[in-house]
Amino acid sequence: MSNLLIEISGLTQRITINRPDKLNALNRDTIRELSSAITTAAANDSVKAIIITGSGDKAFVAGADISEFNTYSVHDAKDLAKDGQDVLFDLIEKTEKPIIAAVNGFALGGGLELAMSCHMRIASTNARMGLPEVSLGVIPGYGGTQRLAQLAGKGKAFELIFTAGMIKADAALACGLVNHVVEQEDLMDKCLEICEKMSKNSSVAIASAIRAVNSGYTDGENGFETEINEFANCFATGDFKEGTSAFLEKRKANFPNN
Ligand code: COA
Repeated sequence: MSNLLIEISGLTQRITINRPDKLNALNRDTIRELSSAITTAAANDSVKAIIITGSGDKAFVAGADISEFNTYSVHDAKDLAKDGQDVLFDLIEKTEKPIIAAVNGFALGGGLELAMSCHMRIASTNARMGLPEVSLGVIPGYGGTQRLAQLAGKGKAFELIFTAGMIKADAALACGLVNHVVEQEDLMDKCLEICEKMSKNSSVAIASAIRAVNSGYTDGENGFETEINEFANCFATGDFKEGTSAFLEKRKANFPNN
């Protein structure tokens, strides 16, 4: 995998997009490689959480690689957006293990869309986020118009998209776009600390929660109904038996599926 660095840190897999000379811009190869790395991590029982970040201290991802699509036709552009959404952005959102975006600098266009498809975003104080596509005569195509409105509200999404502006980490925190802001040197520790906390809980129940939350944002599904079914299905799992027994016996749970 030439555009990614992959490391395991305890139960967490870290995936670093490694094109620092291009501010980690997402070209087609990188999208494919990311998709394959996520699929592999999702299938690996010893990986409980995934962190996606960018190489260097300047950028998470400065967008889709503009040099790749500036000559595309309408047909090519439709393929690009649909393929990207199917292969990577929807895949990340639906992966049944927590995925954190460690936003270590510019997260623009496809970079912010990548971060928004993750389950959580932790930003460093130097991060700058935005969807500048209208300044290029186009709109976000990797789910940005939908996920920004879901996370930050419709008004903020319109403002960010119409102005093509960048917001700083503290403004992103204030509008719900990121979960936490820390100094750049503390970014990975903060992400690992959250991963460590999550890995103590039932991975089966976490997968169930991911399906339930996503269901509310899926056309044709009723999130409340999905929640009822996911809640009920937990009662058949060894993790539920162990979790509740451990509580009643005043000991730490040792989840069989972890
Ligand atoms: N696609 C392709 N290449 C990109 C890129 C992108 N989205 N973003 C940055 N790069 C490349 C630059 O072309 C440059 O390459 P070069 O050295 O071969 O010329 C390199 O990364 C460094 O970028 P540069 O613009 O010189 O850095 P900067 O510090 O002056 O500016 C940004 C940083 C992020 C403000 C600026 O790179 C930028 O605006 N990038 C595009 C952001 C964007 O519109 N993204 C949405 C795409 S749909």
